[in-house]
Amino acid sequence: MKKVVLASLLSALGLAATAHAAELNIYSARHYQTDEQLYGNFTKQTGIKINRIEAKEDELLERIRTEGANSPADIFITVDASRLGKADEMGIFAPVKSAEIEARVPAHLRADNWVSYSTRARIIVFNPTMVKEEQVKTYEQLADPALKGQVCTRSGSHPYNLSLGAAMIKHNGAEATENWAKGIVANFARAPKGGDTDQIRAVAAGECGVAIANSYYLARLMNSTKPEDQAAVANIKAVWPNQDSWGTHINVSGAGMLKNAPNKEAAVKFLEYLASDEAQAYFANGNNEWPVVTTFKIDNAALNKLGEFKADTLPIGELAATVAEAQRIFDRAGYR
Ligand SMILES: [Fe+2]
Repeated sequence: MKKVVLASLLSALGLAATAHAAELNIYSARHYQTDEQLYGNFTKQTGIKINRIEAKEDELLERIRTEGANSPADIFITVDASRLGKADEMGIFAPVKSAEIEARVPAHLRADNWVSYSTRARIIVFNPTMVKEEQVKTYEQLADPALKGQVCTRSGSHPYNLSLGAAMIKHNGAEATENWAKGIVANFARAPKGGDTDQIRAVAAGECGVAIANSYYLARLMNSTKPEDQAAVANIKAVWPNQDSWGTHINVSGAGMLKNAPNKEAAVKFLEYLASDEAQAYFANGNNEWPVVTTFKIDNAALNKLGEFKADTLPIGELAATVAEAQRIFDRAGYR
């Protein structure tokens, strides 16, 4: 009651009723230790308080959908272009025009309604006692009958593999991608199970000769001090796929401002902050990823050791828009 009286009194006096400091509400499907510092620094720099809800992306998207126009969410953060693309298809984002973001984030990593802030590569890991490096230098080679009984991947319906499939459709065409998916299935060492780390461990254990995994899972094992992780790393080798053709498939973590965001000004500030060197360090390094701001290099032992590579430069929005087609192709090929 008192607040209402104060507000009307202030408005009667022609003053803005800014009874509390600026706030920003973030719905995030990322949970890394360094995220605390990432958010803390933003508040320190701007005085804007961050309220954060962390959950799985599907839960967050469902929440945004049911909250509708009354949603308090200003920013949605998640990993993988396919998931950002799915959120975009729901029509939840509003485009953000920012010269600062345009200057710092490469064009191919900006979609119409969301922005990438870190990149990860989909790499090939192999067991050199089982397959030769020359046999596994491209994604296409993994479908070669010479690798029968050697290939391990997580489920074909997982966003990471669907995004790779989408990139292959863009570069090689739908028909070639369907044949590739059939070839992968025919080469399985075992039915898909587990996550990318499980595939790397299976290669190290000799259960599979070759597997596909996101770079940060390998980097995590490389940076680990656990003897079992070090032993696994010692048994495998990694290649940057497709260096002589379209480059290694990369994916992203990203964020966008929501259409119904109640704090749009703070939201734009936050999206700009994520492209700052300081935020890039937390955002990327927290999960052993690369910053999108190319002038800024992070110092990460495993990433330094993995070295430079030629990355695919397919526009990330186009990739996201092709994921549904990849799903249909993988379904037909029995890559589940
Ligand atoms: Fe992951």
